[in-house]
Amino acid sequence: MPITYRDDLKALPCDQLIRLFTEAGWHDEKNSQWDFVFNAPFIHSTLVVSAWNGDRLVGCVRVLSDTIVRSVIYDLVVEKAYRKQGIATHLLKCCKSKYPGSEWLLQTEERIVPFYEKQGFTRFSEPVMYTVSPTMTGKIE
Ligand SMILES: CC(C)(COP(=O)(O)OP(=O)(O)OC[C@H]1O[C@@H](n2cnc3c(N)ncnc32)[C@H](O)[C@@H]1OP(=O)(O)O)[C@@H](O)C(=O)NCCC(=O)NCCS
Repeated sequence: MPITYRDDLKALPCDQLIRLFTEAGWHDEKNSQWDFVFNAPFIHSTLVVSAWNGDRLVGCVRVLSDTIVRSVIYDLVVEKAYRKQGIATHLLKCCKSKYPGSEWLLQTEERIVPFYEKQGFTRFSEPVMYTVSPTMTGKIE
């Protein structure tokens, strides 16, 4: 079955997202009290692009953007069995075509850097500052 892509659905099914995130090592079972709203960050994002094999969610990405000059990529993930087929490349292409005048930023792991370099990204030299998320660390009751 060919892979189809959607940019008209932000409320991706929580169970399918949890499957993808668990495989990627991003889902902490200790923090499962949030599973019923697992798609909330997607719903509240500016853009969500997803890849489907029939009814099976096989990849996704979400973007926070002002839609004009600056866009930030989050949660790009492709199911293992579907990797190295160009799905992530296509997901990013869909995002970029939505906001062609924008710059694109993301934070990633060192081992994923070669993938993004193939997509035309370069290392950002300025410091990135942050505070931890109480939601992600389970410190919100
Ligand atoms: C990173 C990830 C999204 C790539 O998905 P994918 O659909 O396999 O990527 P593509 O098929 O579009 O790959 C495009 C190119 O990058 C290469 N590539 C893919 N993953 C790579 C990796 N981890 N390291 C180096 N190169 C990689 C592919 O071989 C391909 O090269 P080619 O054009 O020379 O053939 C996927 O491996 C994944 O979901 N990883 C776990 C989640 C993650 O870490 N996401 C990044 C969050 S910032």
